[in-house]
Amino acid sequence: MVSLHVLTAVVFLYCLVFSWALKSNIFHFEVQDFLKDDQDTISFDDSHGLGRVFEGIGAISGGGATSKLLVNYPKKQRDEILDYLFKPGFGASLQIFKVEIGGDIQSTDGTEASHMHNSWEENYHRGYEWWLMQEAKKRNPNIKLYGLPWGFPGWLGKGTHNPYIDPVQTADYVVNWIKGAKSVYNLTIDYVGIWNERPYNITYIKILRQTLDQNGFQNTVIIAPDDFGWKLVTDIQKDKDLDNMIHAIGAHYPGTKSAWKAKQSKKPLWASEDYSTFNDEVGGGCWARILNQNYVNGFMTSTISWNLIGSYYPSLPFPRNGLMTAMQPWSGHYVVSTPIWVSAHTTQFVPVGWTYLQHNHGVGKLPKGGSYVSLTNEAKDQLTIVIETMSHDHSICVRPKLHPYKVAPQTVTISLQGSFKNIDKLNVWHSKLLYNGSQSQMFMQQKPLILENGQAQLTLGLDEVYTLTTFSKGKKGTHPKPQEPAPFPSYIKDDFSAYEEYQEPFYIAPQIGSYEVRKVDGQNVMRQTVLQRPIYWCKSETADKTISVIGSFNWTETKISVEFEIPAVNGTDGVFVAARVDRGGCHSNDAQGVFFFVFPITGKFMVTNDLARTKVLHQGSVPIGLGKHQMSLDVTKTKAEGCYDLKQTFSIDLPATPQNGWAALGTDSFGLADFHSYTLQVPHA
Ligand SMILES: *[C@@H]1O[C@H](CO)[C@@H](O)[C@H](O)[C@H]1NC(C)=O
Ligand SMILES: *[C@@H]1O[C@H](CO)[C@@H](O)[C@H](O)[C@H]1NC(C)=O
Ligand SMILES: *[C@@H]1O[C@H](CO)[C@@H](O)[C@H](O)[C@H]1NC(C)=O
Ligand SMILES: *[C@@H]1O[C@H](CO)[C@@H](O)[C@H](O)[C@H]1NC(C)=O
Ligand SMILES: *[C@@H]1O[C@H](CO)[C@@H](O)[C@H](O)[C@H]1NC(C)=O
Repeated sequence: MVSLHVLTAVVFLYCLVFSWALKSNIFHFEVQDFLKDDQDTISFDDSHGLGRVFEGIGAISGGGATSKLLVNYPKKQRDEILDYLFKPGFGASLQIFKVEIGGDIQSTDGTEASHMHNSWEENYHRGYEWWLMQEAKKRNPNIKLYGLPWGFPGWLGKGTHNPYIDPVQTADYVVNWIKGAKSVYNLTIDYVGIWNERPYNITYIKILRQTLDQNGFQNTVIIAPDDFGWKLVTDIQKDKDLDNMIHAIGAHYPGTKSAWKAKQSKKPLWASEDYSTFNDEVGGGCWARILNQNYVNGFMTSTISWNLIGSYYPSLPFPRNGLMTAMQPWSGHYVVSTPIWVSAHTTQFVPVGWTYLQHNHGVGKLPKGGSYVSLTNEAKDQLTIVIETMSHDHSICVRPKLHPYKVAPQTVTISLQGSFKNIDKLNVWHSKLLYNGSQSQMFMQQKPLILENGQAQLTLGLDEVYTLTTFSKGKKGTHPKPQEPAPFPSYIKDDFSAYEEYQEPFYIAPQIGSYEVRKVDGQNVMRQTVLQRPIYWCKSETADKTISVIGSFNWTETKISVEFEIPAVNGTDGVFVAARVDRGGCHSNDAQGVFFFVFPITGKFMVTNDLARTKVLHQGSVPIGLGKHQMSLDVTKTKAEGCYDLKQTFSIDLPATPQNGWAALGTDSFGLADFHSYTLQVPHA
């Protein structure tokens, strides 16, 4: 009892003296020291050592076909879009560019062509990822490139669905892609992965490493497993060789957390695929929260967005899940969305190779919610701090579930210590995400923060991002306002004569199979090239049909016609055109619509309500014979009419559903089909 009284008296006396000192303001430095211990003071101090090395913020094109529509934008708009994504100090200024190594399979929003459809050929001119990688490098020679397969052509499975059945062959296949990048485009691939979100195989990883080394790609390092969770760390701990062969553990959608074991392992940890959220203001909030908190909570030093740009037909799965949107090549319209500027808050002021400060000395949670990170260069004469105060409902990402938490407006004291003590000014960049009709203020430069004795106060509102930096560079790049949006053209005819060989024709969005321009007897055709079922990525992809969708999902009335020829060798059984096709992506197999199939070898035709040909509406005969044919399907409000070689083949009343969907063309089985042209006509909206 006595000692308690004494203690109370001492504390009382101390407080009295202290408040007198405070009021009379005679102990200026003591006041500063007092503030230092206050819970609203955030210190940035390297004297306890540093944290981990930052490896960059990036985005993915592919997984799958997510940049499909970007390629046929008019050059001017295309270049502008690429500047917003890649040009340093302009927009998102991405530091890592990850692309799909096409596997002829559906990988979410379409298929991307393999560089080896078959074992007997190799080709490095297919698709658009080569072009995009060059455009990225042209703008930023330091951007890191990362390749990852989602699936593989069927021949690698030797009749199974296992790409590891012959690990040497699969490693050669992947290393061929890396060689092709180098020899054809002088592109250096920095990172390579295993099999997106599917099982890894340690034997294969080791053989891949050997194959890379044998081909002179010692500097191409492996990121694994590109799957959910951190269980690879257990394998690494048991196997020193494996540990040495893997540069970083890349997990998908970690929800800003990594396993304790993973952190302990000291292995670099990446969110090698993250975001995947509709790119409105909540998407921007998601991206801001995870870019900081992937390090604060999970020690992840790189975060990569799926996807780079929402550039696929908007009724495909996960529309606008990119850092920005460009899905109207016909109008040139595009939108620079908030995640572009959220990215800029870090990328424009933190080069790859800088180091995070330690947790609680420059990395952590703010007293009233939100988070901060800070990074410095090797000389420790530069400092960048990024602060975010995203509220729960305004920063929900697609997955995993975000548990409730609170953020409140707050004033904090920034206190620079150690190497940063003498910094007297930090440049300030600010964003505030606004909702319900107000225009967000993104990436605005404010007046610098002046520090006195390394300290300054900063008032933080909700849903804000701040960058405080010693860098005097930084720019909110702008191009002229893009064109207004417009509906898909009501008439299109393409005879494929305007393409380079191996390009994938514009507007044609393959969902199963792979379509490319080929020269046949001196003339360009569009060929379906896949000969056998690939090692698919979508679990439901067991179809034996191939299909490309075209145009607008809004269409009810559609006329589509094609000229085609089935090659005598390795040809498909039949070809179809379709209207009102109601789905793409991983569920393309189950597409409903109006399908007109012709089988020239057996002389049959069939009209069905579904791609799988289980719902037959009508069937009959056509003249037997290969060679060049013409077929058309004319779907009006209630009727469908078909012609084959200009003769009417059927005229039927339509079932009620589906009421609208894309136009489409395709083949009844894997196997070659050459399309000489297609024509699409819809009534004006
Ligand atoms: C990995 O692939 C090899 C070669 O096909 C096979 O022998 C092995 O069983 C596989 N390992 C696992 C864990 O599946
Ligand atoms: C290939 O790229 C490197 C930079 O990565 C450059 O130094 C070199 O000059 C390029 N070579 C050719 C032939 O363009
Ligand atoms: C918009 O306002 C309504 C009503 O105030 C609110 O319920 C809703 O959550 C707001 N939306 C966003 C995205 O803030
Ligand atoms: C489909 O309809 C919507 C709503 O009318 C419109 O905004 C959109 O532009 C249309 N899409 C296309 C591709 O024409
Ligand atoms: C047809 O397939 C066989 C293998 O099944 C292959 O050897 C041949 O080159 C293919 N021909 C064409 C034209 O694709």
